[in-house]
Amino acid sequence: MSRKIHIYGNWKMNQLTSDIYQFFEELEDDKLAELKCQAGIAPQFPHLSLVKEKALTLGIKVGGQNCSHKNSGAFTGDTSPETLKDLELDFVLIGHSERRTVFNESNELINEKTLLALSLGLEVVFCIGETLEERESNKTFEVLKAQLDEGLKGLPKEKQSDIIIAYEPVWAIGTGVVASPPQAQEAHAFIREHLGSKHGFDEKSLIIQYGGSVKPGNALGLLSLPDIDGALVGGASLKPSDFYELLKVGSELTP
Ligand code: PGA
Repeated sequence: MSRKIHIYGNWKMNQLTSDIYQFFEELEDDKLAELKCQAGIAPQFPHLSLVKEKALTLGIKVGGQNCSHKNSGAFTGDTSPETLKDLELDFVLIGHSERRTVFNESNELINEKTLLALSLGLEVVFCIGETLEERESNKTFEVLKAQLDEGLKGLPKEKQSDIIIAYEPVWAIGTGVVASPPQAQEAHAFIREHLGSKHGFDEKSLIIQYGGSVKPGNALGLLSLPDIDGALVGGASLKPSDFYELLKVGSELTP
């Protein structure tokens, strides 16, 4: 594989200030300097500046877990992608399954957010994935296709390289039930082929992360697969030793 492995931590609604100080204290700078893969962390909004400051010298990208579909205005409680850019952040997660299901975000809204965030120069980690019910009724590819086609509609060609796709089967998120390597590889190959043939993406350079119960113990099996270029990690990214182990696996597999 010729692509750089990208391991991003999604901290979700976890970590208090003291946990963040401890996290960075335990991550050893000299060991991180040897890593070849790209690391990223998405903390809660109020902690973005603190994490950015801590991560700056470690080469870890920092991003938001979500953003608004507008840049400014009367949207109480929302955070503008322009503000994320203003804070010199690197990326934003868009369309995470928890946003889709708990907050009812539609493909149309996700599309608006994606185009806006990209237009501001943010990297977008575009999350897709099927539910267990959809998988069991053989609708996985149909669902992934709709999420990609509707969510990436109108995407300017020059912005394609700023997108990372995160394939996260909903049934694997936070459940401890990781997708089997063949299941994950099949979905990733489908996504790569579809984005290449229908959307004109450069299939060779496209980064597709797998997400859903990734742990140090199962990372190598997944990341060694031909179409898996990284991981979006929830639970295991909260513990510095686990996060570091994942980065080590990613680095070993990065050319
Ligand atoms: P998990 O979460 O690693 O805890 O399953 C992944 C995610 O939601 O991005």
